[in-house]
Amino acid sequence: MEWLFHSRMFRRMHGHDDGETGVDNRIAERGFADIGAWILGRNMFGPVRGPWPDESWKGWWGDEPPYHVPVFVLTHHPRAPLQMSGGTEFRFVTAGIHAALAQAREAAGGRDVRLGGGVFTVRQYLRAALVDELHLAVRPVLLGSGEHLFGGLDLYKLGYQCTESIAGERATHVFLRKRA
Ligand SMILES: NC(=O)c1ccc[n+]([C@@H]2O[C@H](COP(=O)([O-])OP(=O)(O)OC[C@H]3O[C@@H](n4cnc5c(N)ncnc54)[C@H](OP(=O)(O)O)[C@@H]3O)[C@@H](O)[C@H]2O)c1
Repeated sequence: MEWLFHSRMFRRMHGHDDGETGVDNRIAERGFADIGAWILGRNMFGPVRGPWPDESWKGWWGDEPPYHVPVFVLTHHPRAPLQMSGGTEFRFVTAGIHAALAQAREAAGGRDVRLGGGVFTVRQYLRAALVDELHLAVRPVLLGSGEHLFGGLDLYKLGYQCTESIAGERATHVFLRKRA
């Protein structure tokens, strides 16, 4: 995520008036433009696993998360919606990826729905060929272990192709889109 942390967009999102303004920043801004709703997996929302013990966990982002629109959180464990400052509302969806997408589309009112991860969630939408565009930020970092984004998925067969590759200051940005 280093490429994002230095961008002006990210710095502004966190209340600072500085940050880099090059290619990485432009791509970061493009990724946040015209988003009407988000979908996240439960593990992106937080570290709590299993049934919610109480209502105390409200996401990583403090009282005013950077979304400012409805965010649909996929989980097997029901929970009441959570209204945050600045227009973000976390809504917990237990009926699966298609239901979450339908609800997010309705809430977005014609604007884009952004899938914010994690890997388990992105893989389900890729497998169902429901992702129009996937942005991959590639950096030379040796992680050692982690979640496998593409293992066992034949993206070409699912209809995707690599349509754009842009060299940024801190990452190379690769975009996959569905073939027409
Ligand atoms: N890069 C980042 O910014 C960032 C930030 C935070 C965390 N992470 C890490 O990224 C990794 C993401 O892991 P992940 O791929 O497991 O995350 P994920 O996709 O965010 O979450 C997976 C969980 O979401 C729920 N879920 C997903 N699909 C569902 C469905 N169809 N129906 C019902 N519930 C569904 C399930 O939780 P339940 O069954 O428990 O409800 C499932 O275990 C984690 O290791 C996390 O620590 C990264």
